[in-house]
Amino acid sequence: MKNIMVTGGCGFIGANFIRYLLSESDFTGNVINVDSLTYAGNPENVADIEERYQDRYLFIKADICDMAGMNRTFGKHEIDTICNFAAESHVDRSIVAPDAFIQTNIVGTFNLLEAARSQQNRMIRFHHISTDEVYGSLGKDGYFTETTPYKPNSPYSASKASSDHLVRAYYKTYDLPITISNCSNNYGPYQFPEKLIPLMILNALEGKPLPVYGDGRHVRDWLYVRDHCTAIWTIMKNGRIGEMYNIGGDSEMENIAIVKMICDILDEMNELSNNRSRRELITFVKDRPGHDRRYAIDFTKLNKELNWRPEASLETGIRDTIQWYVDNKKWVERVKSGEYRQWIKTHYA
Ligand code: NAD
Ligand code: TYD
Repeated sequence: MKNIMVTGGCGFIGANFIRYLLSESDFTGNVINVDSLTYAGNPENVADIEERYQDRYLFIKADICDMAGMNRTFGKHEIDTICNFAAESHVDRSIVAPDAFIQTNIVGTFNLLEAARSQQNRMIRFHHISTDEVYGSLGKDGYFTETTPYKPNSPYSASKASSDHLVRAYYKTYDLPITISNCSNNYGPYQFPEKLIPLMILNALEGKPLPVYGDGRHVRDWLYVRDHCTAIWTIMKNGRIGEMYNIGGDSEMENIAIVKMICDILDEMNELSNNRSRRELITFVKDRPGHDRRYAIDFTKLNKELNWRPEASLETGIRDTIQWYVDNKKWVERVKSGEYRQWIKTHYA
């Protein structure tokens, strides 16, 4: 692999992956980060990388829905590998406005597949990032495996499921060298504060209400983003072509328990005024429509075939994440105030 195109590299996981690839992994080639900079794309997430790896890192502001543009980029930069993170990623937004999810997640992925197919002789690997949400919801018991039938329940998960099917079909039909990974809920540095963990951390820091949907007893498996990055790189290097791999954090927990954990760690670090516990900020709100009750991942295949397992425990991962948000006040302020959007507007005018 010489030239890896990472799409969505200014988002949460993409930025962490690029940082891991260039500063920690054994990869010695170039990274071409293609991102259209939606509300979730923040160039500040990779500003240090841009500075440190000027000779190996290139940012291109482009939309994966632009087929001609993708074809040009593939040719010009001799792309031999792709890791596709670019997506609309928030379930709540997909319920309110599904259109962009269909465009980016389905049509965008299709464009990338077509661009890769048109230069297939050079393609070493097309790795597609997906989610465990494609499998639908579990009851009290059981785990998602790679053979669990797809049964997506939200416009987001349905769009991701569609893109997975297209990726797999390009392997079956055209022999495109693909792999797909389906992971559980990520958390860690640089996550946009609309998702559960960063939203709760920032609200709890400010003493604002902590909105928990429904009865709060929905279960997610939590994957520390660095562990996700090591899993992706392992699969890209050694995963079998045409295969899907589940990635999990071995950390199932009810939402309410996670929120209480965040409150307690923050109380331990600094008290709210009047000695109030942050747990008092928890507010149960109306449930999300079609809210999946439980996700749980069986990652035996990845463990047995490629000897991967997560390193972070939920407790250490959450502590490190809280510390990151506390230490990176400037990033938080610029994201919350929308200043980062202003910078993008003037920079790319
Ligand atoms: P994110 O929303 O933080 O970032 C998405 C990035 O994609 C942003 O930088 C955005 O600007 C870019 N993007 C969006 N539309 C684009 C387009 N049309 N063209 C080019 N770039 C575009 O998302 P994330 O949380 O980092 O998720 C990354 C991937 O991982 C997604 O495919 C998501 O479905 C998947 N995933 C995420 C989680 C999670 O917990 N965050 C869990 C499972 C799977
Ligand atoms: P989220 O971070 O949106 O990820 P996903 O929907 O992809 O799992 O939500 C994680 C869980 O937290 C999910 O069960 C919904 C719940 N949730 C809340 O209770 N309150 C909130 O404010 C948010 C954003 C999520």
